[in-house]
Amino acid sequence: MSQVDRIKQHWPAVNRRLLAKTFNELGWEQVLTPVEIEPGRYQLTLESGTEYQFSGWTSIWDQLIVEPNSIIRLDQKGQQTDSCDASQFFLDARAELGMSSATMCNFLEELGNTLMAEVQVHENYQAMTAADMIRLPDDELQCLLDGHPKVTVSKGRMGWGLEDYQAYATEFRPDIQLEWLALDREQCELALIEELDEQQLINAVLDQSEQQRLNSLCDQLKVDRSRFFLMPVHPWQWQNKLVNLFAGEIAAGRIIHLGAFGDPMLPQQSLRTLSNRARPKQLNIKLPLSILNTSCYRGIPGRYITAGPELSRWLADIAADDPVLASRGAIILEEPAGAFYPHPLHSQVKDGPYRYHEMLGCIWRHSVHSKTGDNEQAVLMATLFQKDGNGQPLINEYIRQSGLSADEWLSKLFNAVVVPLYHLLCKYGVGLVAHGQNVTLVLKNNIPVKVALKDFQGDLRLVNQDFPELETLSESVRSVTVRLPAEYLIHDLQTGHFVTVLRFISNVMAETGYSEHRFYQLLGQQLAAYMTASPELKSRFELFDLFTPEIARVCLNRVRFRLGYGDDAERPVPELGTNLINPLALTRE
Ligand SMILES: Nc1ncnc2c1ncn2[C@@H]1O[C@H](COP(=O)(O)OP(=O)(O)OP(=O)(O)O)[C@@H](O)[C@H]1O
Ligand SMILES: [Mg+2]
Repeated sequence: MSQVDRIKQHWPAVNRRLLAKTFNELGWEQVLTPVEIEPGRYQLTLESGTEYQFSGWTSIWDQLIVEPNSIIRLDQKGQQTDSCDASQFFLDARAELGMSSATMCNFLEELGNTLMAEVQVHENYQAMTAADMIRLPDDELQCLLDGHPKVTVSKGRMGWGLEDYQAYATEFRPDIQLEWLALDREQCELALIEELDEQQLINAVLDQSEQQRLNSLCDQLKVDRSRFFLMPVHPWQWQNKLVNLFAGEIAAGRIIHLGAFGDPMLPQQSLRTLSNRARPKQLNIKLPLSILNTSCYRGIPGRYITAGPELSRWLADIAADDPVLASRGAIILEEPAGAFYPHPLHSQVKDGPYRYHEMLGCIWRHSVHSKTGDNEQAVLMATLFQKDGNGQPLINEYIRQSGLSADEWLSKLFNAVVVPLYHLLCKYGVGLVAHGQNVTLVLKNNIPVKVALKDFQGDLRLVNQDFPELETLSESVRSVTVRLPAEYLIHDLQTGHFVTVLRFISNVMAETGYSEHRFYQLLGQQLAAYMTASPELKSRFELFDLFTPEIARVCLNRVRFRLGYGDDAERPVPELGTNLINPLALTRE
């Protein structure tokens, strides 16, 4: 089916879905304030004179959850309009959102791109049941997910057109062949964990015959391997940001373009990390894509590259040695190598936009399939709140097929995932942005057994206190890692995981009859059991208190409305709304 046909077929459904998400999230972020006009029916009156009405229910997270098919729009004359168009809504609500004209027009483009992706997402699973979906191989299932659950323009990929989406976007499930460059070692930073050699980095993408083909080209071009390091780059990045912006380096012979080589690579949910489709146990490849996608440009900063391998090894050693983590089988998806080539001109503009400082680099990461057994499944946490074509959540199907009760299943989930994250925070002062794309759940016979954690460069932060447990981490690594006060660091778990993952799981389960109260009560029980078993960490549990009556409401969408599309030197930081009642405190026994 062509994109044009897909648009014709799915436009109403994807717009309704995006509108419902918009009402859900912008209501929660306190940008919109619908009022209840009759039990379960709400009205949103906008300064523009337009009005929206919809049905919904209020969750334990102080969130109105809107039923997509119930939405109607009334124009300034009070007439119901034919269609529900997500883009028109943002224009209708312009006064409430406070976007400048320039921000609004850019936003509409980001939204248009997102909708272009959403019609493909809809096409992918609209005819599938949850049972069909969870039967898929893990990497394929990852391509079927809806994406970031909070951000309305979650698949903006500013700078990409339809052909780029089809060639490189996760939901199109493309086979990507990477481009290869030979980089002058004197110009680049390269870090490898001790026992790793460069050959293994090449093996990750190239099989024997491709290696022969690449080697003979290198011989032909007289590429001296002691002077040059071979590195893959994303084909889009090569064509759009490297061949032009690094042309001086090419002319000087410090960068040599070798061409496309290697196995077909499949993009993961993060778009710029790719799995080897032919040999799934090989290292994943994370590459810069200088496009704006969900909040920021997706480059690779040089700042963490040299520290990255040591940092993730330190974490992996902890996971192996610490009884709380080891007994729960927690997996660290190590990043054993990283490379970065600074831009010779842009690096002279120190406070220039961050996207210009992050264009050429690579991070190699262990594939989760190299760490799990053949009878285990590894699914992103976001899979659990994903719905199938009939609106049924996948988590219900996992629970059904596991043979466990929902209570038992959830208790195992929290013990396998939340306890390790909380322990890392309390014992080691390590915060990981634990959202549904960074945290992977490993299931055996559909039962949660362990967690796999990834994405440490920039997304791993340390407490700003001198925990003795941090002393085994070298000073050089500590000095490049962001340090945060405990009250901020706790948000990597509270906001990153509870609000951004568990909120969505408890929502979809509540829609099918499972008590939210019970959900957070079970979470509290698992945390309490762990805390009782670790009395030596009492003062840390007070420092990182998950049971406070209220927690901060961290708002992502509002940042875009206010900051717009300026080319900033730093990544944007979220805004705060009024505090939330903490479901863990509410349900404490
Ligand atoms: N459920 C989800 N939660 C958060 N982000 C998601 C989710 N699904 C898809 N994404 C996408 O994944 C990316 C998350 O950003 P993040 O900085 O964690 O990852 P990354 O550094 O780009 O890649 P990786 O995690 O592969 O190292 C964004 O591009 C976002 O749109
Ligand atoms: Mg990530």
